Parts: sequence; structure tokens; C-alpha cells
Amino acid sequence: MTFRSVILGTGSALPKQRVSNDDLAQRVDTSDEWIVARTGIRFRHIAGEGETTATLGAQAARHALAAADVQADTIDLIILATATPDQTFPASATKIQALLGINDCVAFDVAAVCSGFLYALSVADSMIRTGAARRAIVIGAETFSRILDWEDRTTCVLFGDGAGAVVLEGQEGEAGILSTKLHADGRHNELLYVDGGPSTTGTVGHVRMKGSEVFRHAVVNLATVMTEVLDSTGLMPADVDWVVPHQANARILDATARKLGLSADQIVVTVDQHANTSAASVPLALDTAVRDGRIQRGQLLVLEAMGGGFTWGAAAVRY
Ligand code: UT7
Repeated sequence: MTFRSVILGTGSALPKQRVSNDDLAQRVDTSDEWIVARTGIRFRHIAGEGETTATLGAQAARHALAAADVQADTIDLIILATATPDQTFPASATKIQALLGINDCVAFDVAAVCSGFLYALSVADSMIRTGAARRAIVIGAETFSRILDWEDRTTCVLFGDGAGAVVLEGQEGEAGILSTKLHADGRHNELLYVDGGPSTTGTVGHVRMKGSEVFRHAVVNLATVMTEVLDSTGLMPADVDWVVPHQANARILDATARKLGLSADQIVVTVDQHANTSAASVPLALDTAVRDGRIQRGQLLVLEAMGGGFTWGAAAVRY
């Protein structure tokens, strides 16, 4: 028996407005054919008036609390992974805390862009295992639509808005987070970044990406970190039931699965419905596959993501 952070429940939230590739082709020089062939994306949800990273994050957290059958006031840690906070400060985690009606707990944001949920999960797991927290909500939430250049067809078709959350609790047993591995390599800033910020331009800025170069790094880094996290648990790719990946591009998912010798139907794919929701994409995909019955208790999951920084990471979880 080992003391581990167990996922008690999952939840997610999407903005009301759903936008198709054909809708985007009315705004920029693109086509459904190009977007589907190069990315696998068919739809994305875009936040409307009153929908923000914090409101979506709070909604996902409420669904996760309900699934876990846990009262909000028993939570002693909230970590929000986001690159699109409601305000520069305070942390949007504190806004979510207030929306959930929790008056005192630890609450902070983690900024690791698309890998943010893996970073947040790893920090929460460490705090639970050291006794600094007992019950945590870990959330990935984004409104990337608000930092997209809607004239730039190379980026605006790729991203969407949404949120996903998990409730974690420290428990003795076989289930829970078995291992996490995180990496960053700051030399690649210019391949994926936002061209603004409070301390440089004083503006929010827009997403800029050299997509094909990011693609090459993603396939290598993701296969390596998945192998690393499995090695650290003594498990093999053949033991894995489901990979729950960051949903950037269906071709990256296929290439990474092939490198590990996994079959395509063991990969949870939601990129067609949600596009790339950055830090929200892994918990959104996890919640989707839990709710539709694919992911079952006792199964071995590998969560993985890679994004701006570069940052990348993976977690092995006995669900
Ligand atoms: O979430 C963080 C991690 N992010 C990623 O992992 C993203 C990784 N990268 C990718 O997913 C892919 O590189 C993209 C989907 C972004 C791009 O696909 P690609 O196959 O690498 O295309 P490309 O960038 O090499 O562009 C090919 C062509 C170019 O035209 P030319 O120069 O060959 O004439 C682009 O201008 O496709 C053109 N293009 C488009 N055409 C129609 C780029 N965007 C579009 C568009 N519609 N939206």
C-alpha cells in the first residue's frame, strides 16, 4: 500500500458557441479540407460575453466536485493551469475559489501553457504526498480565442476555449498518480510565444507559432517523456490502457502512438471537437473519456502534453 493522489472525479466545461471550419473559412483564407487534413480539427468552442477562463474553470470544477461527491468547502488546494488568466493579477485560481464559495484554501495559477495541466497535477500531487494538502482541485482552463490574431490563418484555426478539472485526494492504496515527469527548454521561445506581456509591451499580445518546427519537437519530446514516466514506474507500453494526450494535432497523436507501439484506438482523441485548448485539453479529454465510459477504474492512463517554452511532461495514473 502506498499513499497516492487519487482522482476522485473529473469535470469539464465548454463555451456555448461552437464554430466549424466552414465558419472560419468565411473570415480567413482557409478551408475545411485543409484544416481537417493537416490537424484533424472540425470544431472549436469560442467564449462569448460573460464567459471567461475563471467562469469556465469554476464550471468544470463544479462538475468534478459533483462527480467526486465532495463538498467544495472540504477542498484545501486549488491550482489553475492557464496562459489566459482573467486578469494579470490576482491569480484566476482565487476567482475560481470565490466562485466555488470556498473562503480559505491555498489557490494559485501555474503558467506552462499547453503543458500547464501536467505541471499543476505534479505540484498538487507533491503537496498531497507531503501532507501540505489533503484534497485538491486541479484545473486547466483557457480562453485562447482572446489572444489569437484572427487575421492569421496559421494560428487562428488551431485553437479553442474550454476547461477541465479533477478532484484529487490522498489515499492509501494501489490507485492514483504513480509518477510524473516534467521538462522545460527555454531556448525555443521564438517557436511558440505571445508577442506581448505586462513587462514588455504592456499589451496582452497575440499567439505566434512556427507550427512545423513545433511539430517536429513535439513528436520526439512526447515519445521520450512517455517512455521516461513509464520506466520510472517499472511499467511497459503494453501495460497502458489509455493515452490521454494534449490535443494539438491528430497527426502528432498518431505519430507519438506509433513511436511507442500503441494502437491508435488506445488514444483519447477530442481534437476534432475541441481543437487545441492549451492547458484545458488534457483534463477535457480525460473527462470526455471517463463520462463516455471508455476509461474505467483500475486502468492505467498516461497523460502527456507539450507546449510553449518549450515545456513538456507526462503522468502515469492508475485511475
Ligand atoms: O499546443 C502546443 C503545441 N502545438 C503544436 O503541437 C502544433 C504543431 N504544429 C502543427 O500542428 C502543424 O505544424 C500545423 C497544423 C500548425 C501546420 O501544419 P503543417 O503541415 O506543418 O503546415 P505548414 O505550416 O508547413 O504550412 C503548409 C502550407 C503553407 O503554404 P505554403 O507556404 O506551402 O504555400 C501555409 O501557408 O499551408 C499553408 N497554411 C494554410 N492553408 C490553409 C497554413 N495555415 C493554413 C490554413 N489554411 N489555415
